[in-house]
Formats: sequence, C-alpha cells, structure tokens
Amino acid sequence: MQRIPEPELMLDPEQAIAYAQADFEAPHNRFIALFRERFPEPVTGDVLDLGCGPGDIAVRFARAFPGTFVDGVDGAAAMLDAGREQVAASGVAHRLNLVQACLPQDPAPKPAYPTIISNSLLHHLHAPSVMWEAVKRHAAPGARVFVMDLMRPASPAEAARLVAFYAQDEPEVLRRDFYHSLCAAFTPAEVQGQLAEAGLAGLTVEAVSDRHLIVYGVLS
Ligand SMILES: C[S@@+](CC[C@H](N)C(=O)[O-])C[C@H]1O[C@@H](n2cnc3c(N)ncnc32)[C@H](O)[C@@H]1O
Repeated sequence: MQRIPEPELMLDPEQAIAYAQADFEAPHNRFIALFRERFPEPVTGDVLDLGCGPGDIAVRFARAFPGTFVDGVDGAAAMLDAGREQVAASGVAHRLNLVQACLPQDPAPKPAYPTIISNSLLHHLHAPSVMWEAVKRHAAPGARVFVMDLMRPASPAEAARLVAFYAQDEPEVLRRDFYHSLCAAFTPAEVQGQLAEAGLAGLTVEAVSDRHLIVYGVLS
C-alpha cells in the first residue's frame, strides 16, 4: 500500500499522556537488547536520542549503560511534559537531559555524539531525509547509529490485523495511533533508498519482527 503520512509532532496532550502511560516494556526492552547485540563493546559517553518523546527509551538506555549521558530531543512539549514525572523517578534523571527541539531547524544540545539512537521517529517525518541529515549533522567520527521503527505492512487489512493482535488491550487513542503509524511507516527497501540518497549506505537495514525494522552501523 501507499504510505499515508501522519502529523509529525505529537502535540495533543491526551494523545501524549496515553502514549506515556502505555506499556512499551517489551518493544523498548527489545530496542536495548538489539542495540547490545549489534554493539557488544562497552558503550560510554554522550548519546543523542532523536524524537525522544516522554523519554522511556532514554531512561532504559541510561540504565542499561551506566557510563552514558543521554540528551533527548523532541519537538512536542506535550510529549516531554507527559514523561516528566517518570523521568524524575527513574533513578537516572541526573544522566538525562530531554529538551524541546524540532528537527531540522533546532540543533541538539551538543554538536557531536559518539552514539545516536532513535525509536519510532522516522515514520513521523514527512521528509525522511530530516532523520538522516540529523544523524550526519550530530555524529562524531566513528559514531554508532541505531534506529528502530515500524515497517509499513502490505495492506490496510494487514495493518488492522497487527493492531488487533498487538494492541487489543490498549485505549482507543493508542490503537488509532498505532494504525496510522503503521500506514505512515517505510518499507526496508524505502529506507535503503533514503540511506543511499543521504550517503549513508554503509548502515544496515534489517527487519526484526513482523512490524519493526532497525538501521544500524558505525559511521566512518
Ligand atoms: C512515536 S513517538 C516516539 C517517542 C519515543 N522515541 C519512544 O520511542 O517512546 C515520536 C516522537 O517524535 C516526535 N517528532 C516528530 N517529528 C519531529 C521533529 N520534526 N522534530 C522533533 N521531534 C519530532 C514526536 O513529537 C513524538 O514525540
């Protein structure tokens, strides 16, 4: 099916609160586990989380890698606000700095990072080049890049089946979001094309489930 873009920023407080309260334990732990598998060496230093939302991935990453400091950027104040209490109570808040910044116009807090991560931002971007330009702009030499996102299914019926299967107990606002996100996501072949266009063809694209892909590698 054709891609159907969704709004970039998650500005609606109701949507943001539902998202922050949703149970992302399994996919977010999988994000960390897949990162570890792809980068088994010790990871320390500054990390940039693009499109950090309420900060759950940033918190899990900081816990998993105690020698890191995570800067998260998100364009939506509602999403940052929705996660503030959880971040404050996380035990790693002193190693997190989540700020409002909208790509591509706003810079990240620091100019260059040895590790750049992102979860579920790519499918929100109307122009996916915004993601890859941000990666290039903020990657230190030899930076690790790890991006995870949804993968667009073959048909609206398949998108509806995935929502019914994986989000049956979630509130309606989240089920609707999930459906729209699946329809807005890219296929692995499209992401490969984006990387080639951005001069990042050295990164690997891999489907890791029936609905997720990862993009990873080390930048020269
Ligand atoms: C689906 S959420 C993912 C949040 C978080 N990474 C997670 O995995 O829980 C996507 C986030 O990207 C943000 N976003 C979308 N477009 C953006 C842009 N151009 N600049 C900065 N943030 C953006 C949205 O506001 C939203 O918080």
